[in-house]
Amino acid sequence: MQVIKKVSEMNQIASQCKAAGKKIGFVPTMGYLHQGHTTLIDRARQEADIVITSIFVNPLQFGPNEDFERYPRDEVRDQELAKQHQVDYLFMPTVEEMYPTDPNISLHVEKRTDALCGKSRPGHFDGVVTVLTKLFHITCADVTYFGLKDAQQVAVVHALITDFNFPTEIIAVPTVREADGLAKSSRNVYLNEQERKEAKYIYQALQTARQLIVDDQKNPDMIVENVKRDIEQQIHGGRVDYVELLSYPYLTPVSSIEGNVIIAVAVQFSKARLIDNIIIDEHGQTPEGIY
Ligand code: PAF
Repeated sequence: MQVIKKVSEMNQIASQCKAAGKKIGFVPTMGYLHQGHTTLIDRARQEADIVITSIFVNPLQFGPNEDFERYPRDEVRDQELAKQHQVDYLFMPTVEEMYPTDPNISLHVEKRTDALCGKSRPGHFDGVVTVLTKLFHITCADVTYFGLKDAQQVAVVHALITDFNFPTEIIAVPTVREADGLAKSSRNVYLNEQERKEAKYIYQALQTARQLIVDDQKNPDMIVENVKRDIEQQIHGGRVDYVELLSYPYLTPVSSIEGNVIIAVAVQFSKARLIDNIIIDEHGQTPEGIY
């Protein structure tokens, strides 16, 4: 595995791979790699000739009061994990390398962002699509892998790729979970012991929602109320930020459960805000291949 810090070097290598007819699989990350990331890397390894992973904590996608400075970082461990999972090129640019000047052009996401995390994180997805536009170009990605834990990000990246005709395919990979159902996340390390015990109830509440839909409950408000109540009854160390039920991938409100919907939750604990979701059809089944 080669660690690359310079944009020009990464782009030169990727262009050469592409010219040689190699399929480039790209996994963008902000580091502090866990099984959620390595699952994406493993999938890329199976499907692509060349695997590029980036580690870049992108300041543009953090609000002024968010955890950019505190975002967990462990470069040595990340490099070790990337190597173990047979990444070919680990791209780790600095902020100055990625953003050498003030921007001349900014990207703004028009749709799919006024719900879920987009609502409480204004500008977040503008920062995400900006950095991904650069990264897709730099790495010449043929296919890129994203975890469905952040299903809104998947929906937004899909729109980016479609609207701007990127020659890149997006693969959405199911959320990787701990044994008790908690979605793996870099932020889980910030949960204290009691919060960690309670955090499993987020997924349990989502499973209750699925069961309601299996049992033919069609009323979205009823389902949302149930999920909220379940979480509030079980989780005392955290506050529900939102529970939403929306169409997927459009992320628009629905008046009845028809087609694919997402039920998404965010809970704010003392030092970590956790998100989770399930995407299901009107029968409560997981739809085959979202993208
Ligand atoms: O999901 C993330 O880790 C980030 O939003 C991403 C896609 C690497 C862009 O900075």
